[in-house]
Amino acid sequence: MNEVQIIGTGSSVPDQIITNDHLSNIVDTSDEWISSRTGIKERRIVKGETTANLASSAAKRAIEDAGISPEDIDLIVVATMTPDYFMPSTACLVQKEIKAHNATCFDVSAACAGFIYALNIGFQFIRTGQSNTALIIGADVYSKILDWSDRSTCVLFGDGAGAAILQKSQNKGILSVYTGSDGRGDMLLTCPAVGNSNPFSSEVNLPKSVVSMNGKEVFRFATTIAPKCIEEALKHSSYTKDHIKYYVLHQANARMMEVISKKMNIDIEKFYKNIERYGNTCAGSVPLALDEMNQNGLLKKGDLLVLVGFGGGLTWGSALLQWNK
Ligand code: ACO
Repeated sequence: MNEVQIIGTGSSVPDQIITNDHLSNIVDTSDEWISSRTGIKERRIVKGETTANLASSAAKRAIEDAGISPEDIDLIVVATMTPDYFMPSTACLVQKEIKAHNATCFDVSAACAGFIYALNIGFQFIRTGQSNTALIIGADVYSKILDWSDRSTCVLFGDGAGAAILQKSQNKGILSVYTGSDGRGDMLLTCPAVGNSNPFSSEVNLPKSVVSMNGKEVFRFATTIAPKCIEEALKHSSYTKDHIKYYVLHQANARMMEVISKKMNIDIEKFYKNIERYGNTCAGSVPLALDEMNQNGLLKKGDLLVLVGFGGGLTWGSALLQWNK
């Protein structure tokens, strides 16, 4: 089996900043409530940019960071639950925009665990020799599927995308990837797809595609599954949680991270946090955090990182990385 390494990262968020105070003008909420319950202070919201726009600009930055040419890429996987089209895939739109004409392209749907799922696909393609260089993206424009009159959900999310270039390597880089799902929790976090316009079926309905969530149950799920994800990432390695320099968790809620760090007896300082600036950017959250860490020089050769994602489905996953870029 080939070794696989991350050789570049990139990210993209819209310019428009929406603060908690802005939101208190449209729903009955306050900066105090949002900050104290979630840690979020502001989020980025598109003015017109699409999911493919954010994904493509994150991809261009990752390509530049990796120092490769777009033609080197032979696989593009975009994790998103807010595609611009059912067809074509977001990955094909990105391919066209970045001129990566040698790639096979498709999307995956695993909500906020999506980037870990996409990473796993890229990892397996390269390990087995099917691919050499993969572009993996997590991108969501959640603002288009939020019910902006529902204060219990609209304050939590933001728009954003992150990307990573994976490549076959002599050195170990991705040490393990773990994923899991539980469809029994399907209704805890939902966003219906388009309705049924078939005039020949017994029921014609056009439901509104907006997010709804059982916040308390999702909180319980996340704080139960994230510790398992960390354990699974380390399970088949010679490393323990003390060897890990940073835990890069899906940025859903700062309080969640506090609970998880306590449960695992891991110093909270090891949990990278940017939720105060972006809110929950769904599939974009983990690669956006990873790119910020990379661009800000936090990652040194040899550092060990654990990435963790969890979300609707229910879905979850983790990866153990050795930073060898
Ligand atoms: N502003 C002011 N008050 C609010 C708001 C708001 N934005 N939202 C809810 N409230 C009110 C409620 O109506 C309720 O009022 P009541 O007591 O009069 O009925 C009160 O605040 C408490 O509401 P709770 O839902 O009990 O608040 P809780 O402490 O559980 O926090 C929260 C809610 C922040 C949503 C929490 O449950 C949470 O973080 N859950 C996980 C959500 C999440 O991360 N989802 C995404 C993860 S997976 C993915 O990313 C797709």
